[in-house]
Amino acid sequence: MTSNRHLRAVAALMLGVSAFAMTASASEPTVAPEAPPFPGQGKITYVPRDSILEFKALPKYSEPDWVTEKFVATGKLPPVEQRLPKEPLVYKTGNMPDGIGVYGDTLRHVIGGRPEGWNYSAGQTQGWGGIDIAMSECLTRTAPLFQVEATDVEPLPNLARSWEWSQDGHKLTMHLVEGAKWSDGVEFTSDDVMFYWNDNVVDPNVTPLNGASPETFGEGTTLKAIDAYTVEWTFKEAFPRQHLFAMAYGTFCPGPAHILKTKHPKYNKDFTYDQYKNGFPAQYMNIPVMGAWVPVSYRPDDMIVLRRNPYYWKVDEAGHQLPYVNELHYKLSTWADRDVQAIAGSGDFSNLEQPENFVESLKRAAQESAPARLAFGARLIGYNLHMNFSANGWGDPDERTKAVRELNRNPDFRKAITMAVDRKKIGDSLVKGPFTSIYPGGISSGTSFYDRQSTVYYPFDLEGAKALLEKIGLKDTEGNGFVNFPAGTAGGDDVQIVLLSTSDYGTDRNLAEGIIGQMEQLGIKVTLNSLDGVKRDAARDAGRFDWTLMRHTSEISSVVQNTPQLAPVGPRTSWHHRAGPDGTVDLMPFEKEMVAAVNSFIASNDNAERQDLMKKYQKIATENVDTVGLTEYPGALIINKRFSNIPPGAPIYMFNWAEDTILRERVFVSADKQGDYELFKQQLPGKPGDPGPIN
Ligand code: GLA
Repeated sequence: MTSNRHLRAVAALMLGVSAFAMTASASEPTVAPEAPPFPGQGKITYVPRDSILEFKALPKYSEPDWVTEKFVATGKLPPVEQRLPKEPLVYKTGNMPDGIGVYGDTLRHVIGGRPEGWNYSAGQTQGWGGIDIAMSECLTRTAPLFQVEATDVEPLPNLARSWEWSQDGHKLTMHLVEGAKWSDGVEFTSDDVMFYWNDNVVDPNVTPLNGASPETFGEGTTLKAIDAYTVEWTFKEAFPRQHLFAMAYGTFCPGPAHILKTKHPKYNKDFTYDQYKNGFPAQYMNIPVMGAWVPVSYRPDDMIVLRRNPYYWKVDEAGHQLPYVNELHYKLSTWADRDVQAIAGSGDFSNLEQPENFVESLKRAAQESAPARLAFGARLIGYNLHMNFSANGWGDPDERTKAVRELNRNPDFRKAITMAVDRKKIGDSLVKGPFTSIYPGGISSGTSFYDRQSTVYYPFDLEGAKALLEKIGLKDTEGNGFVNFPAGTAGGDDVQIVLLSTSDYGTDRNLAEGIIGQMEQLGIKVTLNSLDGVKRDAARDAGRFDWTLMRHTSEISSVVQNTPQLAPVGPRTSWHHRAGPDGTVDLMPFEKEMVAAVNSFIASNDNAERQDLMKKYQKIATENVDTVGLTEYPGALIINKRFSNIPPGAPIYMFNWAEDTILRERVFVSADKQGDYELFKQQLPGKPGDPGPIN
């Protein structure tokens, strides 16, 4: 070993790169390097799945005194026991980190998004940061499963309080909570479930938020109502338990049918689909929700305020109607400001997910006087570069775009690109230290399904990458430093690739710049199409991109949530390969293998078999460079110290974001710590569409 190589090997070991990875010659694929140990992770206490909640009637119920005095005593609201279901959802005290709570105070969020409107069922975003999660309830719930051992993981009941499978496993009967009500007092029934399914998911003119399509629940799946509180699913496969995950956030959270139907073209001929989607703009207040808080005030670029839902259908074991916290703030700022405000104490919550803010946040949080706690989780945040694989017209490509798509479909081209990415440098450019790790692509190293030996990594090798480009006929014919298409393709011009990315996050901007610089070294010209989040999502989902940069979504961080997005199993399930105008997806051979692995995974109920199938998937995805992985790192939950019932070790992202994971409805502030932040004290949501809350 030459001294130089020896030094490199030692340095690599210090960084946690395995010796095995180093002995392979640079251009040969190897297994993924081991991630550097990260000592700062919070510890999770694992619990049995059934220890979290149950449905049952309690001998008595209560609510904040002011609700009883100002609203019930004056006849404005029925008594609390009449507003609750026959058997409400009860959170078990044993699972509450600090036990039964008290009412009061405000949870102050800061977000970088802006509300498009409230029609979640028709695909409108509310600005993210958990605002939609606070308003929406779904048939099942998965976010709290982070505290359940992988072998016991099955979605928790929620709006569907129980279910049973037919003997042959093709039918699933779900029982809805009986007597649960929307925040305006109208009963929640199978009508709401069927309206969401028939007139939003299945209606080809509507795309719900988070892209629910019929295939999200398995090809050929049907749903029907049996009675007001019972629905029945029919699946092609037997016992596809995996679909219970798709019934959680964000693909099966029904909207209020009694309100939405009034503007849906099927029920009201005066409306177009566009008018339906935009029929409940951000200014529309008091939209009925099943969630714990209702939006009552909105000032553009300033703040959205939500107040407690007086019909919320969840309680603690002492019969206190939840939520404990009366008010939610959503200050409309930037994502980076969310970290700053949470650390400073002018905001209460942040998912610390942009590594550029790690060091400063850690320093401040370490001080005794710091107002917020900060706890890191596993390495579940990361980024991929997705290449558009459609050669049959998704996104209406022009000649240049078509030529780029052919390159994207060429395995040698993808290998060249992945080999030209210096991941160590990319990670260090975001933050120095043991945070980031080399991530080749595929599922996240933080999931229980991850297997390093099945993760193929093409080490950084610029010369090898250049040779591969040459091999496929890409040469710099003009001597300007950039390779050209072969004569006869796209006019023999420079290969120029447009990278779609979002301008909402510093990390996305920095990664995009890093990629552009590294591709320049390779001789590939990449230009940036940087759009705000809403426009980026629209361009991506319409297929209008050559390459796009994406933060991990939950199929990567959990595998079991949104599993169909791991491969083009349906016409609209993959992020980077959807159907062309003829409705078909032009799958490459390795994609067919990925689809088969994912479909078998979805159909299987055998844990060992599922582990094997995911290993297989990981090998195919990484060997064929389905995506170009960039970097992975842990995120930290920042939460103001005055809040109780925050589960230790809660990851900021796994099945869903931490806003869901921490079960905000049972989070509370003890009486001695309560702040004076409520803006609409002792007020409750008003009538749907009315301008504000009521006294
Ligand atoms: C955005 C934020 C995340 C999280 C989600 C919730 O994407 O970046 O940290 O708050 O919203 O939807």
